[in-house]
Amino acid sequence: KHDLPIYTIEEISKHTNHQERIWVTFQQGVYDITDFIYEHPGGEQILMAAGSAVDPFWMLYSVHLNPHVLDILEKYRIGNLDPNEENDSISDMSDPYANDPKRHSILKPASIKPFNAESPEQLLVENFITPNEIFYVRNHLPVPDIDASTYELEIEIEGKAKTLCLSLEDLKQFPKYTITATVMCAGNRRSEMTKVKPVKGLNWGAAAVGNATWSGASLREVLEKAGLTDVDLDKYKHIQFEAYDTDATGTAYGASIPIWKAVDRRGDVILAYEMNGVPLPRDHGYPVRVIVPGVVGARNVKWLGKIIVSSEESKSHWQQSDYKGFSPSTDWDTVDYSKSPSIQELPVISAICQPVPNTTVKVENGHIKVKGYAWSGGGQDIVRVDVTCDGGKTWHVARFDHHDPQTHPQHWSWTLWSCELPVAQGDKELEIWAKAVDSSYNTQPESFENIWNLRGVLNNAYHRIKVKVE
Ligand code: HEM
Ligand code: MTE
Repeated sequence: KHDLPIYTIEEISKHTNHQERIWVTFQQGVYDITDFIYEHPGGEQILMAAGSAVDPFWMLYSVHLNPHVLDILEKYRIGNLDPNEENDSISDMSDPYANDPKRHSILKPASIKPFNAESPEQLLVENFITPNEIFYVRNHLPVPDIDASTYELEIEIEGKAKTLCLSLEDLKQFPKYTITATVMCAGNRRSEMTKVKPVKGLNWGAAAVGNATWSGASLREVLEKAGLTDVDLDKYKHIQFEAYDTDATGTAYGASIPIWKAVDRRGDVILAYEMNGVPLPRDHGYPVRVIVPGVVGARNVKWLGKIIVSSEESKSHWQQSDYKGFSPSTDWDTVDYSKSPSIQELPVISAICQPVPNTTVKVENGHIKVKGYAWSGGGQDIVRVDVTCDGGKTWHVARFDHHDPQTHPQHWSWTLWSCELPVAQGDKELEIWAKAVDSSYNTQPESFENIWNLRGVLNNAYHRIKVKVE
């Protein structure tokens, strides 16, 4: 095994078709699986990994983590992955994005610089936990290159002279909490709103969302250590976060949350240094990010540098002039950002992830199978998902395959659901709709027409997809 040639990720990524041969990696091994593809019990799905790592797919389809599968794979080994790869980056140092990390090729980019990408939505519902490599990435700026051994997190309480400075090791001395929480971008499902009228923003599908376990220190306990007292709770209103990623002028990414969320014992806000049991990947905030469960992705600040207890919200552009909702009649000439509050908790949403829109679906015993996710902000539970394929004449209540198991009001994770829909004989094309209901009995709006807003946020209308049936 050790005598085999060494390959770089770049070299491997060129092998994605029969002519070039189809290569994949698993851990440190490189494999030419061209001759196995027709024998694969899982069919053509295997091609999703062409030119890249199978590891995240095998987390989703754990049938593979089995000695007999590994034996098959080993027969196709042709080499080893270059051990220096992880630190490898694009060479042009005049490019601020030159030091961005390498990403798995399954991520579908919405933009490259900064890097923004979601996974194919059908993969999201294969597992309650989204593998790190598949988890959507939303970066506004280049990924900072932080040395964990010199990393510092500063905590300031406005008006108090002394600040607290913590290294990563210091942070790890606090009790370690693990929560499972969904993080969702305010622009998730924007591409559907765009069909009503164009908006400014990345054209996200339904997969700018993921569910992971996050481990780290409790923000509340860190604030106590910094000297925050009960008396202060009446004086200060917000917790601001400043990050290590900056634009060309040196302005850092920043956001804030209301103080009650940070100090509430049930708030579960953590300064996370692990995602799904491993150190945070660089794209997701290495070495420390704040996880504010139940709250829009934008406030889950990555590459956290400073925490400020303040009487005011963050002054950052992303708090003040972005991530806010407006009336459908507000346009770029009339918009006054000071008139809308910043988005914090997101409204109830659901999406159909299987079948994929505009594909052909097989009818089995007069039914088709539909799978998706549902989630609501603020720790609300999902109590029901309704699905129809006859324009709402008959609604079918979906089964919960994985219902968020936490107690109220800490339902931070999504609920995965599925449903068998009866198909009438002779139907050639179907439009499937889904809507969720949360534990406040809030539900999704019927259409995008009347929730359209110029930034294309809060895209939570019924999810409607068309498929062909056979
Ligand atoms: C099933 C091998 C990659 C999706 C299987 C099974 C084997 C196998 C032996 C049957 C396991 C059993 O039933 O005990 C491999 C090898 C791969 C590979 C050697 C190396 C590249 C992938 C990838 C995907 C995938 C990348 C998805 C993106 C599936 C699925 C099944 C399956 C969905 C289950 C099929 C069923 O239960 O009907 N694979 N696989 N496989 N594989 Fe793979
Ligand atoms: N934190 C920093 N420092 N810089 C960023 O660009 N993007 C935010 C948030 N935190 C961002 C950030 C937005 S808009 C979202 S939706 C989430 O991170 C995305 O988190 P993810 O990339 O881990 O999925």
